[in-house]
Amino acid sequence: RTAGTQLADRWGINPEQFWLRDRLPERPVTYDEQKGMWNVYGYQEVVRVLSDPATYSSDTARLLPERSEFTEGSIISLDPPQHQKLRKLVSHAFTPKVIADLEPRIAALTHELLDDAGERIDLVSQLAYPLPVIVIAELLGVPAEDRNLFKEWVDKLLERSGQFSLVEQSEEQDKQMEAALEQLGHLSDYLGEHAAERRRHPREDLLSKLVQAEVDGNKLTDREVVNFANVLLIAGHITTTMLLGNTVLCLDEYPEQKAKVLADRGLVPGAIEESLRFLSPFATTARVTNTEVELGGTTVGADQMMLVWLAAANRDPAHFTEPGVFDVTREPNTQIAFGRGIHFCLGAPLARLEGRVALNILLDRFPGLRTDPAHAPEFIPAPTMTGVRRLPLVLK
Ligand code: HEM
Repeated sequence: RTAGTQLADRWGINPEQFWLRDRLPERPVTYDEQKGMWNVYGYQEVVRVLSDPATYSSDTARLLPERSEFTEGSIISLDPPQHQKLRKLVSHAFTPKVIADLEPRIAALTHELLDDAGERIDLVSQLAYPLPVIVIAELLGVPAEDRNLFKEWVDKLLERSGQFSLVEQSEEQDKQMEAALEQLGHLSDYLGEHAAERRRHPREDLLSKLVQAEVDGNKLTDREVVNFANVLLIAGHITTTMLLGNTVLCLDEYPEQKAKVLADRGLVPGAIEESLRFLSPFATTARVTNTEVELGGTTVGADQMMLVWLAAANRDPAHFTEPGVFDVTREPNTQIAFGRGIHFCLGAPLARLEGRVALNILLDRFPGLRTDPAHAPEFIPAPTMTGVRRLPLVLK
């Protein structure tokens, strides 16, 4: 048994789904006939794809039967030069200083959420989910009390975005797509109302900054503001939640690593980076080939969908020594869970800050925290996401 599969054995996780393996498939680039898509697994190949947006486009929706006004123009699916224009504008509002200034508020919220904790908690519902959602809602300037509303829409949206095939286009799949777009419609209407209000009465929040931002004579359209706020709200919901849950789970699984972090809090950022590598929250991202390419010893035609497996690249033994070992002192840790290149995660500084602050407070207040032997964690069932959705802990 390798170190990497210990976690899978203990909690009955499918190691294939979670990339809890120490070996990549024999070929770094393979074709999935059932889905009609390519898989890219090797670290080197993943970096190559993400670093070359002229060849590998992010506009994956162009292969889908119908386009949607909700996804069109979203920053994640744009290519140069449009991407650069939008990224510049939103970076103007979502700056490192805006993020760094949030530290005291993140700490206060973490304490507040933990004050309600008894001897046992579900880490996800009591801290890892509400914390990032409240932070992003406050930052955007939408009422944090509305979070049950957008939780419902986002949960429904993610529930339906599980498996998708380009080959077997079925009525069921069309229905799921329609239902997902309906949820996105609710979220967009809601954010659109708030954005319109900020155009009339600007405040000190991110939505006001987004409607006012101007770079090189360009401003964001209403649709662009709403689409970007959508991305932030969805990203703010699930990603940091998975990161915090996964980090606590890993420290519980490898007590000698937890002991190191407890003894030297300077290792907290290292634990967060290693958790991102070991259990990468977004297992995949996607690209479409603009031309025929040679990648990983294989020829791939033009207009082909590629699933880019960040989780696999993060366990590529050609790049990482002993990828199946969870090591908070790994140096250098060149994990690629936030992507690479022009679309590198804009929220990475926020996710890292929330992870560091919350983990430090958890360890300060409950150094003996451990998984509850009476209640096993539950994992998100979608194959493209790696994270817990319930993590019962005993705190004292
Ligand atoms: C992009 C992962 C947290 C906002 C991305 C990408 C990845 C990623 C892999 C690149 C996708 C691609 O190249 O196709 C993660 C992970 C997170 C996290 C693992 C937490 C552990 C966040 C948070 C926010 C955020 C908290 C905002 C509040 C964004 C945005 C983009 C992005 C706006 C698009 C950037 C662009 O296209 O230029 N994220 N993310 N992310 N992320 Fe994150």
